[in-house]
Amino acid sequence: MVASLGGQHRPAAITKAGNGDIQVLFPRRCPALGVAEAIKASCAIGRPGFFVDMANLRRRLTVTTEVAAEYGVRVLYAVKSCGNDEILRAAAGLGVGFDISNNEEFEIVASRVGGRPFVSLTSPGLAKEQRERVCRMIRTGDIARFYCDSLRQLGDFCGLLRGSEVGIRVNLNGEAITDGVPVYAPSRFGVRLNELKAARDIAASAGCRLRWIHLHNASEFNERSSFVTAARLMLKRSHEAGIDVAALDLGGGLREPADERSLGDFFGALRSVIPDHVELILEPGHFWLSECGYLSAQVLDVKAFDTYLVLVTDCGALNHLQWSYPELPVLGPIARGDRRPYLMCGRTCFERDVVGQIAPSPGYPAPLIDDWLVLGEVSGYSAELGSSFNGVPARAPILLPG
Ligand SMILES: Cc1ncc(COP(=O)(O)O)c(C=O)c1O
Repeated sequence: MVASLGGQHRPAAITKAGNGDIQVLFPRRCPALGVAEAIKASCAIGRPGFFVDMANLRRRLTVTTEVAAEYGVRVLYAVKSCGNDEILRAAAGLGVGFDISNNEEFEIVASRVGGRPFVSLTSPGLAKEQRERVCRMIRTGDIARFYCDSLRQLGDFCGLLRGSEVGIRVNLNGEAITDGVPVYAPSRFGVRLNELKAARDIAASAGCRLRWIHLHNASEFNERSSFVTAARLMLKRSHEAGIDVAALDLGGGLREPADERSLGDFFGALRSVIPDHVELILEPGHFWLSECGYLSAQVLDVKAFDTYLVLVTDCGALNHLQWSYPELPVLGPIARGDRRPYLMCGRTCFERDVVGQIAPSPGYPAPLIDDWLVLGEVSGYSAELGSSFNGVPARAPILLPG
């Protein structure tokens, strides 16, 4: 049974009447005790799931909003990353605003959160029938910031929003970037920084003022230096284009640990290049549910090949794990001295339905048929993108109080 708790690997056994012990095998970085117990209880009744540790999520929201307030940073929640009601309400309750891409996401926020949260819209393109409505919401302030993705869109919006403040999304295509700073270029989103002057002129010709600049570096490429470099260049080029920047939105892809010190250092580094009078906005998605999401899947079969062992499990990489980089459970060798790695697979007919490879760790229990494997770092996007492809049901989030 459970030997020791709190961040250590905990092989745990649950007993199923008549079936002997069934193991629940966790990743090295274990969930909190209450969460692990809830996952085990769910396994005991044969129920797989995508579990969210709400206590940890609330902690992340609290520490992030507190540190953000110290540095004058506005933090948003990217609605696409998980539109679950309770999660959205938890974010809104702490003053977190929302990043949306279209009317549908606006409706999600409006219907599930209530009140009038700060909403920012960044869209690669809006369906034609949505534009009028979005413009109305911009006029009323229901959408507080919006960023056009092209000069054409900017021209259209300025035509509809004569006299107002407007925003544009930029990329770093063609910019000289210091070696080692991870930047995704060329990006297909936004306009080049050297088009900012043209953007300003388009806005001015409709009596609008271009005041809001947005950049989202592809998330996988982001680290602190990417944000700082982007901010510096955005301000420099805006200044050269004669733009008086009121707000700088640096997008999502936040990968800092959610603790006071890391976040303080990060926000401080940004503030060292962004003056206080410029509103600084971040709109992460992944970050919020990081260290909160777990997927459980039962072992259906174990197949031995010459060089590896296949674990067929009751999940699907496409169905449950898209846009996740899961932490895999720690598994012991199938027999003493056996070094063959495990290939954890889903149960769809797709050859590449492979969750990942696990090298055996001597001293840990080997997985057997009917055991449960628990994955950590399963993102909310996986639930959003989840499908019932090939008859494997999608898994809606199960929220655990922790
Ligand atoms: C414009 C924009 N903002 C925010 C995000 C959230 O990114 P992440 O979930 O990596 O933080 C994305 C993700 O694709 C995005 O495209």
